[in-house]
Amino acid sequence: MKYAITAATGRFGIIAVNYLTKQIDPKDIVIIARNFKKAQKLFPNLTIRTGNYDRPNEISKALSNIDRVLFISSTVDGGEITRLEQHKNVVSALKRNHVSYVAYTSFTHAQNSKSSLANDHKFTENLITDSKISHSFLRNNWYLENETNFFKIGKDKKKAIYWTANRAGWALEREYAEAAVKVLINKDAKEIYEFSGSAHTYEDLGLALNQVLNYKCDIMRVTKENYIKYLEEQGLSHQNSEMYASFQNIIDEGSLSDTTNDLTTVLNHPLTKLSDGIKEIIIK
Ligand SMILES: NC(=O)c1ccc[n+]([C@@H]2O[C@H](COP(=O)([O-])OP(=O)(O)OC[C@H]3O[C@@H](n4cnc5c(N)ncnc54)[C@H](OP(=O)(O)O)[C@@H]3O)[C@@H](O)[C@H]2O)c1
Repeated sequence: MKYAITAATGRFGIIAVNYLTKQIDPKDIVIIARNFKKAQKLFPNLTIRTGNYDRPNEISKALSNIDRVLFISSTVDGGEITRLEQHKNVVSALKRNHVSYVAYTSFTHAQNSKSSLANDHKFTENLITDSKISHSFLRNNWYLENETNFFKIGKDKKKAIYWTANRAGWALEREYAEAAVKVLINKDAKEIYEFSGSAHTYEDLGLALNQVLNYKCDIMRVTKENYIKYLEEQGLSHQNSEMYASFQNIIDEGSLSDTTNDLTTVLNHPLTKLSDGIKEIIIK
């Protein structure tokens, strides 16, 4: 049985590969990456194949004689063509190679979400379903690492400042990656996993941050306009301040607030406490 992980040189991929090598014989693992040299440096003892999502023939060759694939979704600004086109190339390559199973990193409630971030994932899920390849959709909620700036500003300026009061199901990226591998190697995997931590607010994150720091930072909810102004006062351009503020839109619109216990069930252990997760992020 041959296992492959695509986009293996990103943060998610590296964690997943390292975890997979502890679960199965490394000889049965194929690393697929667009940058062969980078992959070689990261995984000197594993089989590596070049696989750029932009290049249909290359990704198809990379997936030959593979049984089970962890397909890590591309980055939004990934390459020369749209992410949608990239994902079409991958699904066509999976079909062409008669891969028996694919686990795809999707987006929380991809089929019903009103978030624009869900669009590519909904489309890719549909392509995979139509391909008739046996599959699991790993619908990941929010990475705690997405809030690194919130933690850093809280730590450095003693102000944990945010604008939305809504909730998200944050968990560490390494927890989603470990769960992805557990699903990949499980022959009885379910079709859909809604992976998330428990639902929390930024106020909860601020309180957890205060458990980590040896001083208390002010946890402050402000309007979106004042949040943008605050970031500008910290030296960010208006454009960047608006962009950072917009990252909370998805939480504000409620797209990440519906959580499940799928992640702890698959991991078969509790999730890292928020304060310990924050410690991991700001100490890195
Ligand atoms: N739920 C969330 O909160 C959340 C947050 C962030 C991201 N995500 C999703 O999770 C995925 C993995 O995140 P990450 O932290 O691993 O991102 P990352 O560290 O930026 O890694 C992205 C990976 O995609 C690869 N890649 C980019 N364009 C490619 C292409 N055309 N063909 C093949 N590979 C390509 C990169 O290759 P190189 O190493 O050569 O650059 C890298 O290995 C993201 O792509 C995104 O879909 C989810």
